[in-house]
Amino acid sequence: MSTREQGGPEVRKGLAGVVADTTAISKVNPETNSLLYRGYPVQELASSCSFEEVAWLLWHGELPSPQELAGLRERERAHRALDAPVARVLGELPVDAHPMDVVRTAVSALGALAPDAADSSPGAELAKAERLFAALPAVVALTQRRRHGLAAVAPRDDLGYAANFLWQVLGEEPAPEVVRAFEVSLVLYAEHSFNASTFTARVVASTLSDLHSSVTAAVGALKGPLHGGANEAVWDVFERIGPGEGAGERARRWLADALAQHRRIMGFGHRVYRHGDSRVPTMRAALGELAAHLGRSDVLDLYDALEAAVREEKGIEPNLDFPAGPTYHLVGFDTPVFTPVFVAARVTGWTAHVVEQRAANSLIRPLSAYDGPAERHLTG
Ligand code: COA
Repeated sequence: MSTREQGGPEVRKGLAGVVADTTAISKVNPETNSLLYRGYPVQELASSCSFEEVAWLLWHGELPSPQELAGLRERERAHRALDAPVARVLGELPVDAHPMDVVRTAVSALGALAPDAADSSPGAELAKAERLFAALPAVVALTQRRRHGLAAVAPRDDLGYAANFLWQVLGEEPAPEVVRAFEVSLVLYAEHSFNASTFTARVVASTLSDLHSSVTAAVGALKGPLHGGANEAVWDVFERIGPGEGAGERARRWLADALAQHRRIMGFGHRVYRHGDSRVPTMRAALGELAAHLGRSDVLDLYDALEAAVREEKGIEPNLDFPAGPTYHLVGFDTPVFTPVFVAARVTGWTAHVVEQRAANSLIRPLSAYDGPAERHLTG
């Protein structure tokens, strides 16, 4: 019997359906399958804007003027290299540490070293947000390269954010087709209203703790497989099934087995979207162009086969992690760094939410319905 049926308050497990606050940063409309960042459809932003422009839009509410964009690009380039103390802290972690633990540690260390850590004025918060945005590609690069015993690659001032990100991770200049697919993923991953990690960031900000603490906590929330970790799980499934000849039949067999064991199919379903994730068609198109450029139609064939099988058997639609997982593999990321790449994109949305939370703050502190033992007393 629910607590409500017992005359208690209504409990909304997982806060499902609860409207916790207003936000002007993004709007998810499950009925029309649309996602707007500051009023702009995300598909339009993905096809026409750089990730730097979208970051500015999320932080400031408007797209940047040419001068504002040039200023952001200059500051971003100036903060790409990891400070030596942060690199030393990360160097002390085991090479096989979970990459999300490395990223969480990096954000925390960057906070401990930030001269303006305690300054929570909007100007200081945005300066900290820009520096995190600039430094995270180096953190992801260090994580992947250490795992292969490779030295860090110095950033390139002549490359934009997305191209330099890939340069620092892979050590070679990426083809424009690869940069394009990657940049689309960054734009699509940047923001998504009150998802679990963003809400976590807002809860921490609401206590008037600092921005780096909010982001550190958000990284922890994103690590979970029901949230950010799903993109890694998707590629694991692709590898298990194996692209190529006969993949459709193997996908159907794998799915039947997974469903028989009541396993969740990663990259499918969504708490908010009920008729499909608005971001999937754009990411699927970018994956298609990337796969064509690389001659990997086998990956697309498996994508389509698995999507069709899940739709037929379970009636559920893919979420963004489904096309993002194979995209990140084809771009050249190791599977364990897919979620850290998601962090680098979502840090823009998280920090915009921290600033918004602070501007009209109310401590986030819900109630709980007690269902433990009735009052009792120690005897004797
Ligand atoms: N695989 C199998 N079944 C799924 C499913 C999935 N990926 N997603 C939802 N379902 C089923 C549930 O088993 C449940 O069925 P039931 O009513 O027969 O028990 C029903 O759909 C509702 O699921 P529920 O967990 O209540 O929905 P939710 O809104 O809490 O779940 C997610 C949202 C994202 C947690 C869930 O879809 C999921 O676990 N997806 C896989 C992880 C993932 O891709 N995460 C990234 C999200 S962007």
